[in-house]
Amino acid sequence: MKKISIAIDGPASSGKSTVAKILAKDYQFIYVDTGAMYRAVTYLAMINQVAFSDEKKIVGLIEEYPIRFEQVPGGQRVFVNQSDITEEIRSQAVTQAVSEVAAHQLVREKLVEIQQKLGETGGVVMDGRDIGTTVLPNAEVKIFLIASVEERAQRRYIENQAKGFSASFEELKEAISKRDYLDSHREVSPLVQAEDAILVDTTGMSIEQVVKRIKEIVIAKGF
Ligand code: DC
Repeated sequence: MKKISIAIDGPASSGKSTVAKILAKDYQFIYVDTGAMYRAVTYLAMINQVAFSDEKKIVGLIEEYPIRFEQVPGGQRVFVNQSDITEEIRSQAVTQAVSEVAAHQLVREKLVEIQQKLGETGGVVMDGRDIGTTVLPNAEVKIFLIASVEERAQRRYIENQAKGFSASFEELKEAISKRDYLDSHREVSPLVQAEDAILVDTTGMSIEQVVKRIKEIVIAKGF
């Protein structure tokens, strides 16, 4: 398989990271979860008591505490310094605050620079909100994954139950709609489908079906 770049964008809980991980494993590409980077920065602001509105100080935190990914047999772990923060960045407190942090231009510039470095050699599956439009505009394959709000809330609900989180279906639906709105209406790099991205609506599809569909798209593109 040629070392191409695959950009996967879409709203919260559309299944991006699940399918991106499988594709990266099958193609033996690296996987970059850019949402985890925005979450890690949000977590850093929280533990360092930096206000989510304080863009400059947050950028300072990114410089002081480089974020890195480590591949382990069970998946990928997120570290700052020696601390494994993989679980912490999925907490409800981080999820609620991350859209505000991700809306800052300077924060985005800094993280986009790191993401572009991670993707510069190709052989990468990267997921996020602005990968096809901003981070990897020359990606050979761009996918825009969507699913209905109800289905995304249902997926999150099942995931949360497995983790012992207690939010109700209605609360999750509301939180997802709110995040959709914030991610799509921010001034810097809002969530939009790149002109050359292929839309895949995963409502009613299994993970295997979505992976299969994307692999068909990759083949149809000549790779
Ligand atoms: O995919 P996720 O839910 O882990 O993403 C967390 C937040 O980070 C999401 O609300 C939007 C933001 N994000 C972003 O603005 N740009 C990206 N490339 C990835 C995520």
